[in-house]
Amino acid sequence: MQHVTTIAELRAVLGRERHQARRIALVPTMGALHEGHLTLVDDARLRADVVVMSLFVNPLQFRPGEDFEKYPRHLEADRARAEARGVDVLFAPTVEEMYRAGGEIRIVAGETASRWEGAARPGHFEGVLTVVAKLFNIVQPDVACFGQKDIQQVTLVRHLIAQLDFPIELAVVPTVREADGLALSSRNVYLNAADRHAALALSRALQAAVTRWEAGERTAATLRDVALAVLAGTSGVVTDYVAVVDGMRMLPVDRAEPGSIIAVAARVGSTRLIDNVLLGRRGA
Ligand code: PAF
Repeated sequence: MQHVTTIAELRAVLGRERHQARRIALVPTMGALHEGHLTLVDDARLRADVVVMSLFVNPLQFRPGEDFEKYPRHLEADRARAEARGVDVLFAPTVEEMYRAGGEIRIVAGETASRWEGAARPGHFEGVLTVVAKLFNIVQPDVACFGQKDIQQVTLVRHLIAQLDFPIELAVVPTVREADGLALSSRNVYLNAADRHAALALSRALQAAVTRWEAGERTAATLRDVALAVLAGTSGVVTDYVAVVDGMRMLPVDRAEPGSIIAVAARVGSTRLIDNVLLGRRGA
């Protein structure tokens, strides 16, 4: 695995690969790698000849008071995991390198970003889309792999690719879960034992709604209430939202259809967690 830290170095490495007509996949991450990220690498490997992982904790997507400072950073461990999983090029720039030309030009995330996560974290998606657009320009991948767990991010990246005409295929990889259902997240490290137990309410809430969906329930409000009841019945969990939405704009729907999404966000202790399920697909 090559470990590069500058944009110029990365461009030189990938220029040589592109010259040999090799297909390039990008797996964007903020590090603190877990099996969810490594599953993205597996998916990327199937779709391309060269797998590039970016590892960059992007300050633009954190609001003041969020966890930018304490976000887990384990470069050496991440590097070993990435290499063991078959990443070809690890791009781990500093903040100065990424924003060396300034940081005032931003992508306006638009209406789809104003709801749910965007409402809870104003400016977050502007920061995400700006750094993703920069990574797309720097790496110029043929395919980019994102996890379904951040479903609104995925939706917005799909709009970014379409509306800014990036010639990039988007691969969305299903959420990886612990055996008990907890969706893998770098922020799970913030959970103490009691929080960790309470956090299971998110996947249980989704599973309860999926069970009703599988039994034939299509009224979005009912599915939402089923999930809300599980969250409300778990001490230590403060629900932010449960939303039954369409997969294109993340607008609330009255009637759930295959392809509709149930998305949930809740605070467990001091940690905000999200999860979602795509209806009509297997598993929550
Ligand atoms: O999902 C993430 O880890 C980040 O939002 C991303 C896509 C790497 C951009 O910083």
